[in-house]
Amino acid sequence: MKFFIDTADVSEIRDAQALGLLDGVTTNPSLIAKTGRNFREVIEEICQIVDGPISAEVVSTDYEGIIKEAAELREIHPNIVVKIPLIMPGIQATRWCTDQGIKTNVTLCFSPLQALLAAKAGATYISPFVGRLDDIAHDGMELIAQIMEIYRQYDFKTEVLVASVRHPIHVLESARMGADVVTVPYKVLAQLAKHPLTDIGLARFLEDWKRVPQSQES
Ligand code: G3P
Repeated sequence: MKFFIDTADVSEIRDAQALGLLDGVTTNPSLIAKTGRNFREVIEEICQIVDGPISAEVVSTDYEGIIKEAAELREIHPNIVVKIPLIMPGIQATRWCTDQGIKTNVTLCFSPLQALLAAKAGATYISPFVGRLDDIAHDGMELIAQIMEIYRQYDFKTEVLVASVRHPIHVLESARMGADVVTVPYKVLAQLAKHPLTDIGLARFLEDWKRVPQSQES
């Protein structure tokens, strides 16, 4: 399973990259706004840090506007993946991008039928938002299961990128289902390594180690 980080904060991206576990980055307009920085400047910097797919989202909602932005975004760096909202003009634009060889991440997916459309348009990635579904008392991970079942039936090449991940259980279930990619906030990435028994066990080992003679003279 590939690990992407879901942030536009370059210091978090640097930290995640230093772990050696990072396969890519996803951003969205809200995450860019949080940085208070210029969109293009942030995306260019991210491309210098991570050598993997970097999702940069369009803000147009009409077909002409989306394909214009897509063509501009692909010029920034070969690793750019154009993130496109799952609306009808977005699906049409995804097909255009596929035909042009531009990689796409179709976002704001909340139903398996939306995911079917994205796959038929040749999307590189589909981003179902599991946390936002959980927020309204729908089972986000059930959506992932349904999309994977549909994609398997027809051998679609679109990769399932689990997004809106809020906690480690989302990552665990994604891995058990065999999702292709999970994009996680830095906080969740750090939580994956944590276990209280690891901390207690390590503290005991280090305490016991103090009683071990450290040289032959002692
Ligand atoms: O990048 C899209 C997605 O991961 C957003 O997550 O937490 O704002 O629902 P969230």
